[in-house]
Amino acid sequence: MRGSIDVEPDANTDGSVPPTARKAPAEIAIALRGVEKRYGDHVALEATTLDIKDGEFLCLLGPSGCGKTTTLNIIGGFVAPTRGEVYLKGCRVDHLPPHRRDVNTVFQSYALFPHMTVRDNVGFGLRMARVPRAQASVRIAEALALVGLEDFGHRPPGELSGGQQQRVAVARALVNRPVVLLLDEPLGALDLKLRKRLQLELAQLRRELGMTFVYVTHDQEEAMAMGDRIAVMNAGRVEQVGTPTEIYHRPVSRFVADFIGESNFLDAALVPAHLAGGARQGTLMVRPEALQIERETPGGGGLPGEIVQTAFLGSHTRVAVACAASSAPVTVSCFGAGAMAIAEPGTRVALSWDPKAAVRLPE
Ligand SMILES: Nc1ncnc2c1ncn2[C@@H]1O[C@H](COP(=O)(O)OP(=O)(O)OP(=O)(O)O)[C@@H](O)[C@H]1O
Ligand SMILES: [Mg+2]
Repeated sequence: MRGSIDVEPDANTDGSVPPTARKAPAEIAIALRGVEKRYGDHVALEATTLDIKDGEFLCLLGPSGCGKTTTLNIIGGFVAPTRGEVYLKGCRVDHLPPHRRDVNTVFQSYALFPHMTVRDNVGFGLRMARVPRAQASVRIAEALALVGLEDFGHRPPGELSGGQQQRVAVARALVNRPVVLLLDEPLGALDLKLRKRLQLELAQLRRELGMTFVYVTHDQEEAMAMGDRIAVMNAGRVEQVGTPTEIYHRPVSRFVADFIGESNFLDAALVPAHLAGGARQGTLMVRPEALQIERETPGGGGLPGEIVQTAFLGSHTRVAVACAASSAPVTVSCFGAGAMAIAEPGTRVALSWDPKAAVRLPE
């Protein structure tokens, strides 16, 4: 009954509350407070403070080795943090073993029991929890149907493809209906079509069951498509946490701007003042679709350059423009037919944009 009365879960017997317990309210499903992980001299995760809301779909996104799995395993209890505190639903858990946390994990290297059938693999957690056989069998069938493996229940995992085994691992985690589901690149081995289908189904399932998902991926498109928010990680540090829109339009660093979508980086000192939005130095980031391109006219303003390459991509034309303000050719995405008329390599052009669409990046 503890959940229904208004007592801090970590309250001491005298009713006082240790100072740390106040820091994580219950509507926050997962709270990390100054969580750090070191392996000897190597910092796998720098001191990280992060709140994941109840029912939220949070993606951990970043390149290989940036600390995604480490973060997930600290939440799940498989890795002990060197420093810091972990809260689930307001209760401090970093001293608890994995099975005492209401969390299920789909591991990056999913290990299925080779001697058990697919059905028994999926139902393993239910058997451990002594769920009645009839009820368990319904839930196993539901979970298998969800991942499209309803006809594979009787097989041993060894007779499935890698992608099918991965789906069994997802079904095995879903069948327990945990409050929090941790997924470490769960769709990594799947082909694009199945991956897209399961992305949609996982997102829908999460909404229906009101579960909190922490989802690790290094695929920025997957993170944009699925996440309510994305935590972008780089070299053991969370660089930015925000909605896909915030991350795309307001990246806080060059790393984030570069990792999410395509970016152009311009030297603000070499950009005409009316386009620089007040910046006189440093780097300006502008997305390819925010740039307008025209034939250069004398006294016409804009950022001058020369077309070096064009590519017609069906939905739009991509034009690469060499200009003094950028060390790499500036990419412009042109929608509509107008661009093709000036798209000859060697054409002198002027680039312009709404200064509000340019992001000033810190050094
Ligand atoms: N048990 C360990 N001992 C020593 N170093 C480790 C250990 N586990 C992880 N690391 C290091 O910590 C860093 C983060 O590893 P982590 O597995 O969290 O990366 P990741 O973001 O999940 O990468 P990937 O996308 O390749 O799975 C890496 O540099 C890794 O080598
Ligand atoms: Mg990993």
